[in-house]
Amino acid sequence: MSLAVFPFKTEEPSLVVSNLATAAAHPAIDEVWAVAPEVGGAEAAVRAMAPEVSGAHAKPVEVIIQERLGTYRSGKGDAMNTALTLAAEQGRDRVHFYDADITNFEASWIDGAERAADRGFGVVRHRFPRAATDAMITWMITRPALARLFPGTFLPRLDQPLGGEVLLTRPAVETLAASDLVRSRSDWGIDTVLTYATSVMDLGFYEHHVADGKRHALYGSLDELREMLIECLDAVASLSGRPGPRPGARHATDPPAPVPEDLKQTTAYDVEATVRLLDAEWSADEIHLAESLPPDLSYLVLDPPTRPRFELMDADRWHMAHGLLMENFALGDPAWESLAFRLWLTRVLSYTTNQARQGFDAAMEYLESTIRRYEVIAAGSS
Ligand code: LAC
Repeated sequence: MSLAVFPFKTEEPSLVVSNLATAAAHPAIDEVWAVAPEVGGAEAAVRAMAPEVSGAHAKPVEVIIQERLGTYRSGKGDAMNTALTLAAEQGRDRVHFYDADITNFEASWIDGAERAADRGFGVVRHRFPRAATDAMITWMITRPALARLFPGTFLPRLDQPLGGEVLLTRPAVETLAASDLVRSRSDWGIDTVLTYATSVMDLGFYEHHVADGKRHALYGSLDELREMLIECLDAVASLSGRPGPRPGARHATDPPAPVPEDLKQTTAYDVEATVRLLDAEWSADEIHLAESLPPDLSYLVLDPPTRPRFELMDADRWHMAHGLLMENFALGDPAWESLAFRLWLTRVLSYTTNQARQGFDAAMEYLESTIRRYEVIAAGSS
């Protein structure tokens, strides 16, 4: 039997509880945990509603307070590591993790993951189509980094390396619970290090395709993703120098499926409000850093009003900027954090106002081709 775990913090309590109920109703699931910090979120509201879900399905539905296990900002990573530690101690055979903010979570997600585990895959990740302007950390930070670091392996080809939707079998749970890399990563970087750590376990790695997409609340300005951006950048940069998956390691994925039309039309964030973020004041330290960039890049970000602000940040300039960030970014340094955010905004806005406007299919082909190109460059230079 399987355990289902939902890390949460500030999601709408009724949505969290509805997802707990969907998991509890599934015949493969014998227990459900919701893991959250004690203060500053929805913990009390979810705790109040959990007994009803438990009663309705005659299964334990526990709300667990996350422990302080990591060394970075205490966030989602502490929640996931709290669950991993407990699950390993209890010798759980299979553990599903799902983000609590999914608005279209249903039994088929659990079915798909269980089927792949039944076929002998030790790790199953869910993959799903997302709007052309969604997943901008995945597309612009994480997959380019995996392409640089692990060209020719399945890591750069993973569809959702930042997704929190995964099924782990017992050997994977035990290895992750014992991993310092994973346990220390208490912030938004957890999904990145968990994807990496599971990719090198050689337990068989399956991507289950959710054709309807993962639906979740969309964003206002991209300021909402600033913290996640810098933590995911730091996490993926920390993988530099580590070995990738063994050549020929077992990896399989469901075939592609048609993408829902409404998803193809969705704009995931507020473009106008995001453009205005580029007006943010520069600190002296940040100007100093930006001036040390190659002229091609400093020209783009050190910006008198007459200069183009983001149009020129194409895939090649971004390759250069991304490489500099991978090598030099310093988490916790306000100037580096601000500059990384500004560079990423210019890249996202450039793509959004160019390729993303050419329609979903063209945009996806463009994004995939940038990852392939970064991989070719990395393979050539290694
Ligand atoms: C991503 C985050 C924003 O995948 O969900 O990029």
